[in-house]
Amino acid sequence: MDDTTLRLRSHKRVSGYPVQDQEAAANPRPHVIAQLGQSLDGRIATTSGESKYINGPHALDHLHALRASVDAVVVGVGTVCADDPLLTVRRIAGVSPARVVIDPSGRVDPNARCFAEDGVRRLVVRRRSVVAPPLPDGVEVVPMDDAPAFDPSAVLQSLVQHGFRRILVEGGPTTLSAFLEADLVDQLHVFVSPVILGAGRIGLSRKACDTLAHALRPKAQVHVFADGDVLFRCDLRESARGAGSRDAPSPVEANPPDEQHVSSRALRAAG
Ligand SMILES: NC(=O)c1ccc[n+]([C@@H]2O[C@H](COP(=O)([O-])OP(=O)(O)OC[C@H]3O[C@@H](n4cnc5c(N)ncnc54)[C@H](OP(=O)(O)O)[C@@H]3O)[C@@H](O)[C@H]2O)c1
Repeated sequence: MDDTTLRLRSHKRVSGYPVQDQEAAANPRPHVIAQLGQSLDGRIATTSGESKYINGPHALDHLHALRASVDAVVVGVGTVCADDPLLTVRRIAGVSPARVVIDPSGRVDPNARCFAEDGVRRLVVRRRSVVAPPLPDGVEVVPMDDAPAFDPSAVLQSLVQHGFRRILVEGGPTTLSAFLEADLVDQLHVFVSPVILGAGRIGLSRKACDTLAHALRPKAQVHVFADGDVLFRCDLRESARGAGSRDAPSPVEANPPDEQHVSSRALRAAG
């Protein structure tokens, strides 16, 4: 496990979110983290929809630590259909968050693994009028107005009303992009793996910008994992081009000795 994972985990479990708690008191809006694992060429899945596992074990540990740091993890029904994820924190010691599936039309399989009864809250966000096969006992339904697409801020508001303040939007691309476009994401963790898929789903999309000056350019920290995956931890509330930082490179986090060793060895091998 890497140092970033450890820091994330201790943030909630040991230090108990002192900063976020103060923020929560002052700000009724929840804190939203989003994550994405992608290839060097920006793909989050192959053309057949396969995305397990673009990233290596270190990134997966970090993802599980991210889950352990939030109250609820949100995925779209497309991800449940494609990957049938568990959405637990089984790779690390920690408490699994509630699992929320956005499923407007009620097409999710009631036997999906994320609905397994394990003492964790499970919720489905869907249109009020939907008629669908019964969900397993204990799965809560969050009803939304009958719009073609849900306003992500309305979804977020409902989640707050259900008691969740820290939310991880874990994918897939449709869900994540909707939250991003609505400017609801505070922190974005993008794991880039040194693999090239050639084609496949693009992860992030938002309305096009005509010029680079209008591009989203969040302040980012970069972390290199021992297996070659790279994490961009982006603070979407702060621009990298804020006061005085126009051309400043993203700070690379100090790696643990092992990772530095691997990096320098790899560099030497590469000539
Ligand atoms: N690499 C990664 O990090 C990662 C992570 C997760 C998933 N994936 C991959 O992503 C692919 C699935 O992509 P996807 O875009 O279909 O997945 P998705 O975002 O999980 O699901 C999209 C579906 O969720 C519903 N939805 C989400 N937000 C909504 C909103 N605001 N309003 C109304 N409905 C909303 C819609 O369902 P309806 O169509 O029923 O209306 C929509 O089609 C899979 O191949 C999976 O493996 C990759």
